[in-house]
Amino acid sequence: RERTYIMVKPDGVQRGLVGEIIKRFEQRGFKLVAMKMKAASPELLQQHYADLSSKPFFPGLIAYVGSGPVVCMVWEGTDVVKTGRKMLGETKPLESNPGTIRGDYCIDVGRNIIHGSDSVDSANKEINLWFTPEEICEWRSMEEPWVYEKAAD
Ligand code: GTP
Ligand code: MG
Repeated sequence: RERTYIMVKPDGVQRGLVGEIIKRFEQRGFKLVAMKMKAASPELLQQHYADLSSKPFFPGLIAYVGSGPVVCMVWEGTDVVKTGRKMLGETKPLESNPGTIRGDYCIDVGRNIIHGSDSVDSANKEINLWFTPEEICEWRSMEEPWVYEKAAD
């Protein structure tokens, strides 16, 4: 099944939202296959946000996401990239519906607590950037037949 890269940013960690974020993905039925806490270097963050390097907010973004530890996760499940983005809400928290993570827990675009891959292609790149293959756990969830009608191939 599909995988996505989800990262709780330093504000989400400081504000005690790690458990709440994990809970939402678990309860939806997605499977956690990798997780770690990390103080990300500016070099790693510049690679992660390379597409935004020309934006005026780029230096502030690198400083913000590098200002404390982040919690890095890989979640697996059918359509998890698109569904994960829906669960996060919009980039701007004030445009995010209540019920979404950003819509429930933050206000400012520069403090929007969580990252989620925006396509399957970027998910694969981000998973490779943040995790080594050995850090990804292949495991079978006993919930699977209760979450999915059909088994994964
Ligand atoms: P991520 O999941 O973090 O990648 O957010 P996104 O995909 O919803 O938005 P995008 O990739 O365009 O921007 C990455 C991050 O840069 C956002 O999550 C914000 O933290 C920050 N950002 C984006 N736009 C702005 C902006 O206009 N001002 C500021 N200060 N930060 C911004
Ligand atoms: Mg993005």
